Amino acid sequence: MTLSEPIWLHVCDVDEIPRLGTRVLPHPTGDIALFRTESDNVFALRDKCPHKGGALSQGIVHGEKVTCPLHAWNIDLNTGEACAPDVGCAQRFAVRIDAGEVYLSLDDAARAGAAEAAAAA
Ligand code: FES
Repeated sequence: MTLSEPIWLHVCDVDEIPRLGTRVLPHPTGDIALFRTESDNVFALRDKCPHKGGALSQGIVHGEKVTCPLHAWNIDLNTGEACAPDVGCAQRFAVRIDAGEVYLSLDDAARAGAAEAAAAA
C-alpha cells in the first residue's frame, strides 16, 4: 500500500442502515451520518447541517437528498451541497459498498480531523 491509497473503514452491513433512513457513526471529530436511499446507495456526510448545525441524521431522505429537520434545507447527498437557493456544504465522506458491506474512507475522516484541529488552534 502507498500513502496515496485510501484507507477504508468497515462500518456495517448495508441492511443495518434503514432504507430511506440513517445510521450515525460517532467520530472524535464529530458524528458522521450514513444515509441509505431507496435504491440502496449509501452516502456519508458530517451530521451537521451547513445552515445552523441541525442533525442531518434526523432529516428525511428522498431521492439522493436529505431535508434538514430544523429549517428544511435540502442537502445533496452526493456532494453535501445545499440545494439552491440555499448556499452551504456539509462535509462529505467517500463510501464504498463491497458485497453488501459499507466502508468509509478513513482518509477523509483523518483530513477532517486535521482541518478541524487546525481551525481550532
Ligand atoms: S439547521 Fe438545517 S436547515 Fe437550518
